Amino acid sequence: MIAPMTTHTDPLDIVRHYHQRTKHRPERYAASLGYLDWASQPDPFRRFEGAPGVDLPRPPLRPAPSYDSLFTSTPQAAALDADTVGRLLLHSLALSAWKQVGPGQSWSLRINPSSGALHPTEGYLISGTVPGLIDAPGVFHYAPFSHQLERRAALSDAQWAALAAGMPQPCLLMGLTSIHWREAWKYGERAWRYCQHDAGHAIGAIAVAARTLGWQARVLDSVADAELDRLLGTDQQTGPEAEHADCLILLSPAGSLTPAPGAEAWPARIPALDLLGTANTLSREHHPWPIIDAVADAVCKPGSVLAAQSLPRTDTSPDRGHSAEQIIRQRRSAVDMDGRSPIDRNSFYRLLGRTLPGAFVADALPWAPRVSLALMVHRVTDLAPGFYLLVREPAHEASLRKSLSDQFVWETPEGCPPDLPLFRLIDDDARRAAQTVSCQQAIASDGAFAVGMLAQFDAALDTGGARAYPRLFWETGLIGQVLYLEAEAAGLRGTGISCFFDDMMHALMGLTDTAWQSLYHFTVGGPVEDARLQTLPPYAHLDSQ
Ligand SMILES: Cc1cc2nc3c(=O)[nH]c(=O)nc-3n(C[C@H](O)[C@H](O)[C@H](O)COP(=O)(O)O)c2cc1C
Repeated sequence: MIAPMTTHTDPLDIVRHYHQRTKHRPERYAASLGYLDWASQPDPFRRFEGAPGVDLPRPPLRPAPSYDSLFTSTPQAAALDADTVGRLLLHSLALSAWKQVGPGQSWSLRINPSSGALHPTEGYLISGTVPGLIDAPGVFHYAPFSHQLERRAALSDAQWAALAAGMPQPCLLMGLTSIHWREAWKYGERAWRYCQHDAGHAIGAIAVAARTLGWQARVLDSVADAELDRLLGTDQQTGPEAEHADCLILLSPAGSLTPAPGAEAWPARIPALDLLGTANTLSREHHPWPIIDAVADAVCKPGSVLAAQSLPRTDTSPDRGHSAEQIIRQRRSAVDMDGRSPIDRNSFYRLLGRTLPGAFVADALPWAPRVSLALMVHRVTDLAPGFYLLVREPAHEASLRKSLSDQFVWETPEGCPPDLPLFRLIDDDARRAAQTVSCQQAIASDGAFAVGMLAQFDAALDTGGARAYPRLFWETGLIGQVLYLEAEAAGLRGTGISCFFDDMMHALMGLTDTAWQSLYHFTVGGPVEDARLQTLPPYAHLDSQ
């Protein structure tokens, strides 16, 4: 029996209600159809039929910069041209491969991962002219299948100048939206959370792609959702396949930060759009999930915008020499872990350090971190198995010490770099717990370690209002993106885990209230390939035309 949707009207009450209601419990998973309605499976590709297309280049892979060097130095900033825009999208939101089980049974994978490979995230580019690519400013939808920009609206030079006033030059803006239906089709009520994880992964992917070009990405959080919807033309969409504005990202050469426009500046900056093209239909039929509509509506109410600036983090680890673009392109999820492969202690410490503020990826989010990491260590060489904690923001420590189990010892692990805020909580064989808590998925116990991402839930909602809720998930998704790439660079593989038993994880950590809530899980280890699947290149369908 599904509880009545909600009688709440206050946005914060709706968010809290949604959060509790969509927890998975061993005896009751969050509500979903319980079967897959294949006849209404959503098309993973949104297209705007009739919108003029701009072909993006697919430049060959560059050996430099190396992946590790992204964290130790800033590459020389690339000029704003066709190659730069092509690479930016090719290494963030493009296709990365096709998987095939048999003739006619194939599906695409992307640079950015997605829960169930359903890809609810859509990307937009808002740009002035770009030599050799864009002859007049505009708002463009990114179409990953054809690696094209679809021009949704033309902007005059004056409109683009007003929009980008005070921003570093050159600059680009990217918008992200979510089609909640794509995830809800499979996952029901919990799906809205997964859309937010995916948006966070996409922000992380964009930040890393920008860094390979010597550019930086930063979410402009002062723009209200309604204004962003107007800018992207998504305010004109209705019905279950409508896109919902998530965030606007400023891209500019690294080091060129200027203060973001205040919330009051946006309405006058955003022009009325004359939209081109019509959105394709994704599914023949839809199942309604009113609680998703309610939470989506609650979180787009204006609220406080918090900004923080972190100091660059010093990373002196040796360079393993992998091409950054290669690591980005090869990122995949492990479908199975081997239960054997360890990660060496230094790689583990390096990987954790790169999730911290000051290591450029996290700095794409303009607020002080709200997420710290509970780690279930199974196979880290020279480190005792057990529960560990990475405190990603010094201000979290006192609250975590208060909230977590009083059995925890809070010791500094062997060989831990002094600038890595990592604590050993308790020695334990956490494999069974990791698997059980991850909806019994063995990837969590057969990896080298598993992660539960603990968000400072009450404090974030108290200060930021309902709009803080999706942002907590974005932060976890962004951390997940770093873990995916770090796993690849260490010769291992990662997998995001959005299916977990929320309160069982809280009980493991000794959490008894909602001061801290686990919002996303992750595992890193030695992958076992599925031999039945063939991997095909991402854009053979374009090359053969
Ligand atoms: C937010 C999120 C949650 C995920 N949850 C799970 C999970 O619970 N179990 C699992 O096996 N894979 C999970 N995955 C992995 C996805 O299934 C995978 O990303 C998707 O199939 C695309 O494949 P790729 O990552 O290799 O590109 C998750 C991925 C993301 C981004």
